[in-house]
Amino acid sequence: MAAEMALVKPISKFSSNLRPKFNTPRTVSYSIRMSATPTTTPTSTKPSKKPNKTSIKETLLTPRFYTTDFDEMETLFNTEINKNLNEAEFEALLQEFKTDYNQTHFVRNKEFKEAADKLDGPLRQIFVEFLERSCTAEFSGFLLYKELGRRLKKTNPVVAEIFSLMSRDEARHAGFLNKGLSDFNLALDLGFLTKARKYTFFKPKFIFYATYLSEKIGYWRYITIYRHLKTNPEYQCYPIFKYFENWCQDENRHGDFFSALMKAQPQFLNDWKAKLWSRFFCLSVYVTMYLNDCQRTDFYEGIGLNTKEFDMHVIIETNRTTARIFPAVLDVENPEFKRKLDRMVVINEKILAVGESDDNSLVKNLKRIPLIAALVSELLAAYLMPPIESGSVDFAEFEPRLVY
Ligand SMILES: [Fe+2]
Ligand SMILES: [Fe+2]
Repeated sequence: MAAEMALVKPISKFSSNLRPKFNTPRTVSYSIRMSATPTTTPTSTKPSKKPNKTSIKETLLTPRFYTTDFDEMETLFNTEINKNLNEAEFEALLQEFKTDYNQTHFVRNKEFKEAADKLDGPLRQIFVEFLERSCTAEFSGFLLYKELGRRLKKTNPVVAEIFSLMSRDEARHAGFLNKGLSDFNLALDLGFLTKARKYTFFKPKFIFYATYLSEKIGYWRYITIYRHLKTNPEYQCYPIFKYFENWCQDENRHGDFFSALMKAQPQFLNDWKAKLWSRFFCLSVYVTMYLNDCQRTDFYEGIGLNTKEFDMHVIIETNRTTARIFPAVLDVENPEFKRKLDRMVVINEKILAVGESDDNSLVKNLKRIPLIAALVSELLAAYLMPPIESGSVDFAEFEPRLVY
C-alpha cells in the first residue's frame, strides 16, 4: 500500500489529520512514538540525563489500520463455493510475486545521510513528516496483508500466499522509509505502533474498493514524482525518490491483484449498489488526498511540483485506471469537479483556523457547524455529479500509461 486511506465520513478526523502534528497533541485517536536512533547520540551537543524524556518525541500521525470480516473472506475465496475464482489467473499472479523483481532494489547508500544533513529549516520538518506518513501507510498495508495471508491459508493457499508476498513488499517499503527517518535521527517505533493500533473495520467488499484505490493512487503518485524529478533533477533533494520507479511497480502489481480479486467477486461490481459504493470510495480517496496535500503544499513545492496540478494529474490517471474495473467512477475531468475540490480546500482551511484559534471549545464547535455543513454539501454535490459508467475491461488488457 502506498497512499493513505481515509474516509470522508468522519469529517472531524479530516481536520485533525491535516494539522501539523508536531504542535497538536492529543487530537487524534492515537499517537506514534518517535525515538532517536542510537547511532546519533555520540554527536549530541546536549546529552540528556533523562533519555526517555528527551529522546522520545511524541508525534501524531493519522494512520488507519484496517481489519475485516475474515470469516466472510474465507467464504469468498473458497474455491468450492465460489466458481468464479480463476485459479489459473491467481497462479500466474503468484508466480509474478514469487519472482520478486525488487528483491535487491531497496539498497541504501551514503547519499541519503548526506542529503538529509543538507535539508534544514521547514523543508527538513516537511520531509520528516512525509517519511512518517508514508511509512505508516506502508506499514498499515503490511499488517492487513499479513493477516489475510495467515487467515486464508487453509481455504485458498494461492491467494493466501499472494497476500503474504504483498506483505513482504509492504514491510520492505515501510522499512526503507523508516531507514530514511534514521537519516534525520528518528525512527518510527513500529512495535509500539502495532500494539497501539486501532483498527477501522471494513466489510470485505469495502476493503477491496478502498485497497484497490489506495494501491493505484499510490502507483500514480510515485511514478509522477519519479518522472518529474527525472526531468527536473535540480529538485532531487533526497535520494529516496530515485527508488520510486521500481517501487511503484510493486504498488501497481498489488492493485492488479485486487482487480483480479474483484473480478472473482462479480457481485461486488455488477449492481446499482456497487456503482454507488464505487463512486463513494473514489470520492473519499480523492478528496482525502487533495485536502491532505493542499495542507502540505510546501512539500510538493519543495520538490518543484504545483500541488494542485500534481494532485489533479494523479486523480485523473487513477480514475482512468479505476474505470477499467469499477462499474462507475466520478467525472473528475469535468472542470466542475476541481472547482468543488478547491472550495473544499478553502472550507477546510477555515475549519483548521477555528481549531487553532484561542476560542473555548464551545465557541469553536459552534463556529465549526456551518463550515462542516458547507463541506458536507460540497461533498454531496461532488458525489451527485453525473458519474461515468465504466468497468468490464478485461484485467489482462490493462497496461498503465505513463503520461506525466
Ligand atoms: Fe507499498
Ligand atoms: Fe502496496
